[in-house]
Amino acid sequence: MQTNRRILITGANGTLGQATARYFLERDAACHVFLGVREKRERAEALVAEFAGRAFLCPLEITCDEAWMAALNQIEAQSGLINVLINNAGYHDDALLVTMSHAQWSGVLEANLSSVFLGCQAVMNPMMQQRWGRIINVASLSALHSPAGQTNYAAAKAGVLGLTQSLAKETARLGITVNAICPGHIEGALPATWTKEQIKAVKRETPMRRFARPEEIAAVVFFLASAEASYMTGGHLKLDGALV
Ligand SMILES: NC(=O)c1ccc[n+]([C@@H]2O[C@H](COP(=O)([O-])OP(=O)(O)OC[C@H]3O[C@@H](n4cnc5c(N)ncnc54)[C@H](OP(=O)(O)O)[C@@H]3O)[C@@H](O)[C@H]2O)c1
Repeated sequence: MQTNRRILITGANGTLGQATARYFLERDAACHVFLGVREKRERAEALVAEFAGRAFLCPLEITCDEAWMAALNQIEAQSGLINVLINNAGYHDDALLVTMSHAQWSGVLEANLSSVFLGCQAVMNPMMQQRWGRIINVASLSALHSPAGQTNYAAAKAGVLGLTQSLAKETARLGITVNAICPGHIEGALPATWTKEQIKAVKRETPMRRFARPEEIAAVVFFLASAEASYMTGGHLKLDGALV
């Protein structure tokens, strides 16, 4: 049983990252949460103030391997070796393939897939030293059910599922589990271009008739990061209110 978890959440200023960080901080008084931030940091800073001594800002550009090394050095110096990594940061940049620029393609692949490779590689050594680790990769429903206009994002998130399964096999005997989640739509983090009518229409299509609250996704991440989730590895969970 791992009693003092040192957790890094990337994209921790975003909707899901912030909710996930809060979920851990409110439920595990012994954990230290490192909030990966890039440009925007106001919500992460508010968590640092609220949970002083247990939540820490951690500047991290996820596409840069030196930044990962600097982040891990910071965590080790302030708290100890990392043992939970939540690869949450990401973004989409939608376009039909016929008009998608190479920069749109590679930017999304770098931020959503290559970053997960970099993060997982960076934490291997500290997790192997502890013979305990939890890696949770935030993919998307788009990995399983890919809509038009998201060839870049769907390919990246599907790649995350492949990486997750393959890495889980490499780490299965080392006490390190690797899992992914595939959220559908999340309340408070919908595409900015959606009109009220579009939102209503998608809710109507969703058997639960609503989108996920960020805490409902965070709860699953919390379980996957627990000692109890010891036999689940290489899997992914669809969290979509039965949309597909
Ligand atoms: N929203 C949804 O409905 C939904 C559904 C399925 C899956 N997801 C996935 O869930 C995760 C979180 O989504 P969200 O809705 O919470 O998004 P969000 O509110 O836009 O937050 C995304 C976070 O990722 C950070 N980020 C993006 N690129 C980065 C980079 N290169 N380096 C460091 N940080 C970077 C952003 O930092 P800045 O603020 O500095 O840009 C932001 O903090 C993403 O992986 C997303 O693909 C979301």
